[in-house]
Amino acid sequence: MSDIFKIAILPGDGIGPEVMKQALKILEKIKKYINKKIFIDNYVVGGIAINKYGNPLPKKTLYGCENSNAILFGSVGGPEWDYLPLNKRPEKGSLLKLRKHFNLFANIRPAFFYKNLSILSPLKEKILNKGFDIICIRELTGGIYFGVPNGRKKKGIDEYAFDTEIYSRLEIERIAHIAFNLALKRKKKICSIDKANVLNTSILWREVVTDISKQYTSVKLEHMYIDNAVMQLMKNPSQFDIILCSNLFGDIISDQCAMITGSVGNLPSASFNHDYFGLYEPSGGSAPNIAGKNIANPIAQILSLAMLIEYSLKERNIAQKIKNAIQKVLDLGYRTKDLFTNSKNEKIVTTDDMGTLIMQSII
Ligand code: IPM
Ligand code: MN
Repeated sequence: MSDIFKIAILPGDGIGPEVMKQALKILEKIKKYINKKIFIDNYVVGGIAINKYGNPLPKKTLYGCENSNAILFGSVGGPEWDYLPLNKRPEKGSLLKLRKHFNLFANIRPAFFYKNLSILSPLKEKILNKGFDIICIRELTGGIYFGVPNGRKKKGIDEYAFDTEIYSRLEIERIAHIAFNLALKRKKKICSIDKANVLNTSILWREVVTDISKQYTSVKLEHMYIDNAVMQLMKNPSQFDIILCSNLFGDIISDQCAMITGSVGNLPSASFNHDYFGLYEPSGGSAPNIAGKNIANPIAQILSLAMLIEYSLKERNIAQKIKNAIQKVLDLGYRTKDLFTNSKNEKIVTTDDMGTLIMQSII
């Protein structure tokens, strides 16, 4: 195995560049502990790439990613580019293209709950007291996001639009295996989400996941309709451990999982293909309304780096050091604006300060 490890850095739009800067501070500090020699290269992506090169995913960026061992992604999109047709927008034109190009079908979104941020959660204390630690496994390269045909036809009162939800047995099997393997390392419990009382794709989804479960007899599998699942997640999140879902249901429910922890600014995500090549990105968006103000929360970006270190570099202890540092800084009461509630011991800090504090707390 080569001892060189290349990371393609794609900061993107909105708060992307400023939170990425904090993650790079952390990388700079910990890289000496890593067994491989780390090289990083910056590439433009998203709206800023449209402005510069007329293309949200320029060739140079794509080649750079192809020649790297992992991708650390910021965020893309903003109102500036919302006038463009869907395929040319930063979201579809860069992020979804990268997911498809590298076949990153397995998206892992942990939603864990920092006890000292519980005040930020919209859930009642008596629900939060039970705690929760959920991992959402989202199928990322299929379903209605990519199904053909899709488009718009006709004009005036006859105008219509259509998308296609399509799933093959193979697509469901491979994401199910990811979920079951992870379940073996956790509470051996999966809740698979569908809408099998209405959708054909969901009936197949339920059948295939049930078939695969027979290979993992120690894992308890439960099926739940998406409408019930969003309700249960509010009522009693502690009942969930791994939630397995299609691309669209996963998009929706992972935001809900994030929000009940108190802030979407804290949650990372990882997307893998068969060879475990990974793209790591915060779960939240580009937050254009607060971009450039040095107030954004860099924790999700830093935790995305920690996931890269854990899964792509296989340096679990170093990833843990980063997570401990974040916990310590939060314990000391430091908060970016989104986490600030004005309670005693809390000190409001900038994006830059938060990055530096976390970096300094790594031991
Ligand atoms: C996400 C985002 C993306 C998605 C957008 C930006 C295309 O919401 O990663 O959850 O819908 O997958
Ligand atoms: Mn989303």
